[in-house]
Amino acid sequence: MHIRIATSLDLDDVRGVHLCAFPDGEREIVSKLAINQLSEETTPQTISLVAETDGTVVGHVAFSPVTIDTNENLQGYILAPLGVKPEYQKRCIGSKLIESGMHRLLEMEVNMLFVYGDPKYYSRFGFNVDASARYIPPYKLQYPFGWQAITLNECNIATSPVKLTCIASLCDSELW
Ligand SMILES: CC(C)(COP(=O)(O)OP(=O)(O)OC[C@H]1O[C@@H](n2cnc3c(N)ncnc32)[C@H](O)[C@@H]1OP(=O)(O)O)[C@@H](O)C(=O)NCCC(=O)NCCS
Repeated sequence: MHIRIATSLDLDDVRGVHLCAFPDGEREIVSKLAINQLSEETTPQTISLVAETDGTVVGHVAFSPVTIDTNENLQGYILAPLGVKPEYQKRCIGSKLIESGMHRLLEMEVNMLFVYGDPKYYSRFGFNVDASARYIPPYKLQYPFGWQAITLNECNIATSPVKLTCIASLCDSELW
C-alpha cells in the first residue's frame, strides 16, 4: 500500500471511494465534498491524500485549513473526509492515511487538527473532546460529541470560546 498526494487526475477514483465507503444519505454529499476540495485552491494548502494498492485507489483523506479570526498565530486544520473502500477496510489503511497527514501537518508547524467524527475511532490517534472544547465549529453540529481535536505543535490554547472558519467546500450545514 502506497500513500501519495491526490491530483485532479484522481477525481473519479476519490469520488468512487466515498460513494462506496459511506452509507446512503451521506455518500453523495461526502463524495461531493472530496472532489470540491480537490479543486479548491486554499492558503495554506489543502492536503488530499490517496492510498493505492496494486495501482488502485482504495482510500482517501483530506486536511483543509481552518482559521480563527482572533488568533492569526494559531494554524488549524480539519480532517474531512476519510474513507476506505469496504473490501479494503481493517487493514490499517485509514490509520496510515491519518498518520501520514498528521506527519505532514507537524512538519508544516500546524498547531491543531480538528475532526468531526466517531470518537471511538479517532481517539486511537489522540483526538479528544477536551482539546476542541473552546473552538466553536463553523456550523451547529448534529452530533456535538463528535467534535474533537489534537494539538500537533504547542500553541496558546484559547482561554475563551473562539469560532472557526472553514474553506468554501465545507461551507454546507448538511456536512455538520
Ligand atoms: C473509518 C474507516 C475510514 C476506517 O478505515 P480502515 O482502513 O478500516 O481503518 P483501520 O484499518 O486503520 O482501523 C480499523 C479499525 O477501526 C474500527 N472502526 C472503523 N470505524 C469505526 C468507528 N466508526 N468507530 C469505532 N471503530 C471504528 C474498525 O472496527 C477496526 O477495528 P479493529 O482494529 O479493532 O479491527 C472506514 O471504516 C470507512 O471508510 N468507514 C466509512 C466511512 C466513515 O465512516 N468515515 C469517517 C470515519 S468516522
